[in-house]
Amino acid sequence: MSRAAVVCGLGAWVPPRVVPNDVLAEQLDTSDEWIRTRTGIERRHVIEPGDATSDLAVEAGRRALASAAARGGAEAEGIDLVVLATSTPDHPCPATAPVVAERLGLGGVAAFDVGAVCTGFVYALAVAASMLTAGTAQRALVIGADTFSTILDPGDRTTRAIFGDGAGAVVLRTGDADEPGALLGFDLGSDGAGSDMITVRAGGSRQRSTGEPAPEGDQYFSMAGRAVFTEAVLNMSKSAQNLIDRIGWTGDASVDRVVAHQANVRILRAVGDQLGLADEQIVVNLDKVGNTVAGSIPLALADAVAAGDVRPGHRVLLTGFGGGLTWGSAALRWPDLALVPDPTPTLRKEQS
Ligand code: UT7
Repeated sequence: MSRAAVVCGLGAWVPPRVVPNDVLAEQLDTSDEWIRTRTGIERRHVIEPGDATSDLAVEAGRRALASAAARGGAEAEGIDLVVLATSTPDHPCPATAPVVAERLGLGGVAAFDVGAVCTGFVYALAVAASMLTAGTAQRALVIGADTFSTILDPGDRTTRAIFGDGAGAVVLRTGDADEPGALLGFDLGSDGAGSDMITVRAGGSRQRSTGEPAPEGDQYFSMAGRAVFTEAVLNMSKSAQNLIDRIGWTGDASVDRVVAHQANVRILRAVGDQLGLADEQIVVNLDKVGNTVAGSIPLALADAVAAGDVRPGHRVLLTGFGGGLTWGSAALRWPDLALVPDPTPTLRKEQS
């Protein structure tokens, strides 16, 4: 039996404040009808002023640790690695993962951020799984968290309609490749030629080295929506199919559920069509939360598990696409996990 990283805990969190489409329609030249029909999104959650990505990451991480602990034994103990996927860190420097680890009572462990925008969670999962199978770490908390509400142009009806804030997390332990929950493979890729399609132009070294203030608007997130749509369908389908072929999930042993990055229901349907899957095999939760970037895949997974739509034994394929451009997929047979939606709060908030 070969050594593998095994999912043994799952948790997710969205901030309490809900912004339905109608509220956006009061502020911008848009409508509930346009947003629903063009994206499938009905509402999203946003953080309160002064809150930050680490607040969401801690809540999701806490739930994933409680989920691992609920199985009994020592599943949640001995975490020695925290990997946080985010492109909205609390500060440009340092990384946010060490603060998250410390607030979860895991201070001292290896902790770092991974930046692959909407593919961030799949990349973080691949990095953590590789560290576990290499023996560099024994048990990992992998979190995807973003607060895109903090970087959206308040006047941009397209991006404001799509994005929301949220976080999700899994606990990984080392185990055997034939156990339920074992990560069976990854397919990762990028295309830097498309880096302008999804970007925040200002605030990085390219702009700051000029010594000039950034042109107005460049501090906000921008996206070439229609081109990104096409690339998202193409690359998620290709990446998912590559992985399916590599691990031999065909015939009677084919995919049960695809948990894809939640950007637009039309993208999800198109990916399902490309893979030859029925609509009910494609998990959808973007109606309730919008596009939560690195939080999207684990949030959708947690919702689907809570609803009984992803069940123990299911062959589950995760696939994402985002800025960079980046894409990636991961595969596992779903384990028998307990979700703990509301564990007892024991954590303190960051003081700074
Ligand atoms: O998370 C990373 C990956 N991101 C994605 O995968 C997002 C991919 N892109 C999309 O989901 C879609 O392209 C959008 C939802 C962003 C846009 O939908 P679309 O159907 O591709 O619209 P479009 O950009 O082609 O625009 C069509 C029209 C335009 O008006 P004109 O020029 O035809 O008069 C837009 O200005 O729709 C207009 N429009 C809106 N109208 C009302 C764009 N956003 C809105 C809006 N409300 N919120």
